[in-house]
Amino acid sequence: MTKYVINGGNPLYGEVEISGAKNAAVAIIPAALMVDGVCRIENLPEISDVKTLLGILKEMGAKIRAVDKRTVDIDCTRVGTTLATFDTMRRIRASYYLIGALLGRFGRADVAMPGGCNFGGFRPIDQHIKGFTAMGANISIKNGIVTAVTGDTLRGTTIYLDVVSVGATINLMLGAALASGRTIIENAAREPHIVDLANFLNSMGADIRGAGTNEIRVRGVKRMTGGFYSVIPDQIEAGTYMAAAAATGGRVVVKDIIPRHLESISVKLREMGVTVVELEDSIIVQRDAPLLRTHVKTMPYPGFPTDMQPQISAVLCQAEGTSTVTEGVWDNRFKYVDELSKMGATVRIHGRTAIIEGVRALSGAPIKASDLRAGAALVIAGLSAKGRTVIDGVDYIERGYEKMVSKLSLLGADIRAISDRQDFLFIRKSG
Ligand code: EPZ
Repeated sequence: MTKYVINGGNPLYGEVEISGAKNAAVAIIPAALMVDGVCRIENLPEISDVKTLLGILKEMGAKIRAVDKRTVDIDCTRVGTTLATFDTMRRIRASYYLIGALLGRFGRADVAMPGGCNFGGFRPIDQHIKGFTAMGANISIKNGIVTAVTGDTLRGTTIYLDVVSVGATINLMLGAALASGRTIIENAAREPHIVDLANFLNSMGADIRGAGTNEIRVRGVKRMTGGFYSVIPDQIEAGTYMAAAAATGGRVVVKDIIPRHLESISVKLREMGVTVVELEDSIIVQRDAPLLRTHVKTMPYPGFPTDMQPQISAVLCQAEGTSTVTEGVWDNRFKYVDELSKMGATVRIHGRTAIIEGVRALSGAPIKASDLRAGAALVIAGLSAKGRTVIDGVDYIERGYEKMVSKLSLLGADIRAISDRQDFLFIRKSG
């Protein structure tokens, strides 16, 4: 197991290149299952969730060829199984996209229930099930396996989502791409990765309109064929480096991004007294004055992203006055607050709101990441704290952030990854 050791207090300066979007990549890779022929996917992030999904497709019989570090050719023409029940699937949330992809292609899917970040509370899939059932699938769940069966193909219909769900929108869009007739998804999620998946499917021959609005219309096609596609930049990775720049002070150019995707984050940082300058495909974040308090509420896109909630809270721990952060998407996503408290943060949780009394400085401590974004928040806290922070549980971080340690080091952070054994030796030496 790896840990991150951070000696905090260095303002970040320089440029950071943002990788391809995790949450787009983990939808596009399963979508390749529905395509006859070779899909070349470029700008994939080098993260463990991507490796896990490529491994699952390979186990199912796909031919996968790495063209370079960020580009793969995937050919699923020969995949003949509808069974995806590998142990690895329980580690990642996005494995549920195999339900839509397999149902769309074969009319049947037997898929292990998804895992993924557990930030407290159950993560339901009732909206996925409701949608597939409306499209004619019979669904049962037994021994942790979701089995979905249709007569021949899924049938297009109108589906109204009772909650704005990214996963259900993506899964139903996948199923609908090869369904018979027209599917309308109402109250659809609008996140950039939904648009990216629709663009990928359309470039392979699907007929999807309205992605990025709350009504997506899909005219089912008989088959999709191969092609090239490049994944969009990661909105949340970019936001995380913006938050790190704000927390530590300094000046960071966040490169290779789509500034429009980051508007809700830029607005909040400006409210906190941070200078944010949007250029064509980069953003400059600079802080030269104390951070000001603000209020944040997470919402589906284009609102402030829930996947940035822990990171912005870590920044606000050091802002003057009382800030509030309200979680509007998940029932409970504040597990990381106990760890921030170990660093001297003053945070109270009241229902879905964190009430943060800013402190002058955080202090380094041994802490543990409980999920991906919680881990990112702890890194931000460690970078801006006085003294040494050791973060355990960084496997979560490496599921979704490409080379975080080297990207931060290039910005001047004193951060390194060590193994448990090195940590043990360190403790013996200091003891
Ligand atoms: C996706 O999860 C992301 N994961 C999450 O990012 C992100 O937090 C979330 O969307 C919201 O933006 C991936 O893209 C792989 P949802 P997903 O379905 O699709 C409720 C990260 O850090 N709901 O949009 O699982 C649910 O309980 C990860 O990268 C139902 O009630 O989220 C929640 O309150 C963590 N029934 C809300 O909807 C359902 O059937 C939004 O969930 C589905 C969801």
